[in-house]
Amino acid sequence: MCGIVGYIGNKKAKPILINGLLRLEYRGYDSAGVATVEKNGITVVKSKGRVAALESVKAIDSLEGTIGIAHTRWATHGKPSDENSHPHTDGKKNFAVVHNGVIENYNELREFLGKNGYSFYSETDTEVIPNLIDYYYQKDSKDDDKKVLRAVISACSDLNGSFALEIISTFLPEKMIVVRKDSPLVIGRANGENYISSDIPAILSYTKDFYLLNDLEYVVLSRDKAEFYDKNLNVIKKDVVNIDWNASAAEKDGYADFMLKEIHEQPKSIRETIGSRLTSDGICSIESLELSKEYLSSLNKIYIVACGTAMHAGLATKPLFEKLCHIQTEVDIASEFRYRDPLIDEKTLVIFISQSGETADTIAALKLSKEKGAKTLAVSNVIGSSITREADYTVYTHAGPEIAVASTKAYTSQVVLMSILAIYFAEVLEINSDLIPDLKKAILKLPSQVEEVLKIDSMIKAFAKKVYTEKDIFFLGRGIDYAAAMESSLKLKEISYIHSDAYAAGELKHGSIALIEKGITVVSIMTDPALTPKTISNLQEVITRGAKTLVVTNQDLGDKVFDNVVKIPETISLISPVLSVVPLQLFAYHISKEKGLDVDKPRNLAKSVTVE
Ligand code: AGP
Ligand code: GLU
Repeated sequence: MCGIVGYIGNKKAKPILINGLLRLEYRGYDSAGVATVEKNGITVVKSKGRVAALESVKAIDSLEGTIGIAHTRWATHGKPSDENSHPHTDGKKNFAVVHNGVIENYNELREFLGKNGYSFYSETDTEVIPNLIDYYYQKDSKDDDKKVLRAVISACSDLNGSFALEIISTFLPEKMIVVRKDSPLVIGRANGENYISSDIPAILSYTKDFYLLNDLEYVVLSRDKAEFYDKNLNVIKKDVVNIDWNASAAEKDGYADFMLKEIHEQPKSIRETIGSRLTSDGICSIESLELSKEYLSSLNKIYIVACGTAMHAGLATKPLFEKLCHIQTEVDIASEFRYRDPLIDEKTLVIFISQSGETADTIAALKLSKEKGAKTLAVSNVIGSSITREADYTVYTHAGPEIAVASTKAYTSQVVLMSILAIYFAEVLEINSDLIPDLKKAILKLPSQVEEVLKIDSMIKAFAKKVYTEKDIFFLGRGIDYAAAMESSLKLKEISYIHSDAYAAGELKHGSIALIEKGITVVSIMTDPALTPKTISNLQEVITRGAKTLVVTNQDLGDKVFDNVVKIPETISLISPVLSVVPLQLFAYHISKEKGLDVDKPRNLAKSVTVE
């Protein structure tokens, strides 16, 4: 959701900015723009539509500056249009700003600025920011090298909501100021130059040294340094963090789409997630996680809080925490949890799962949990992301950069890591379970079993070709398979635009079966032998009403009447979503391709949902 790029150095900024915007395209956006510091002031070029549309605007060819800011906008206030695109400036073009986030009190600020002689040319909330900075700048009678910084700090102190900002000014033409609050922004440090971006992969090809910003740390960037200040102008000391991701991990590597590449990367990403946390001789350890037996025994509840796919990873692993650790475990949607005054205290551990670590609702739920006295544990894929910096503890999935909007490898890595966590907790708690040694073995087998599943691709593709024109596709499962069905259904709807829902198989006849009619496609997952006969009965009910069926199972179902059966390797049902979801990721992928859609950047969606 929205991408910010910036550059300050000795090279021409434009190509670097455009390259960065293209790498952030996956986040989802509707317009793009750049502003550079030129000899005769700030030049802004912006346009509705794709980065390619921006590149075709004639004025962009004249940009020569070596300092610049750039933005892809995901409209929240005001329709996608040239005028509403960022960067925004004050009327005199003293300041140019790009913004990711939402300014909740923009109406009153607009009114205040209007009364003070400022005019507005867009419908955005963002436009108040350059004007407010100018207002404070003009009001300040002290003329020193901190004047622009003071104006930025005063303006930001008036803003309610979320923001990641890059600011350039004709009053400070050799510098740039950046700051963030509840929206992502990182700074990449190189020799004589600084890069700014909404995420690390976009600028990994330039540097691996990063400054990770906390909320309301004001950064004054020059070519060869970055100075950090708090709101009272006290200097903050900041260390460089070296990110060891390989830049090529963020490339397509010959695959047609990032999503396909990421689906195929799962054997590797799961291996990375397991890492040395689970060894072949059965030792389970989680680095940097020191939760004592005393603390874990004091817990009366674990909450798993997340959004979308990450929340589905919570649903898939909740049973493991209850079974192995004997602690009641609830899963909640972050945007619900944060507003319903959840019953949590110091006896609750709240686990937050987030691939990006930047999801606004998840961050807010985390802050709330801390206020209520609970300990918080982040499960994230992005080193140094906001969630990891807020949480008391962090464990990383190490799945590598995930670029496609539809999450695939992050999900399987989340399920694997959460499963290892459940085992680890049970061992710290000294709870003996016969299941644990078998689970450990089963987890270690998962990477090679996913490799096996990926070989079934052509059969899935053939089925996708048969059903890609459908309007509705149903997913059914019981227990753990219901959790996997929910994730599979989300995958399908987000990239194919086919309406789809997942149902607990036994619940179907309580209403939703009314929707089943002749020819409809029903996908069912069956990995738990104890529940399979029940689910088969539910499937019979829909077959009787004319449904076509695709079944994903690790069991021999004998001579049943299903149209298609995808056989996946056997594993313990509790971790089976790691395998059962893979053919259904491919199913969604092939349907989207058959429909000629943009698999990696589905309409209306953003990779990282940084507004609530
Ligand atoms: C996944 O395919 C979705 N695009 C989405 O549901 C995503 O999982 C959700 O927005 C949470 O993101 P996060 O893991 O980065 O917090
Ligand atoms: N709220 C701002 C707008 O609508 C910024 C949106 C974004 O983060 O892209 O212009």
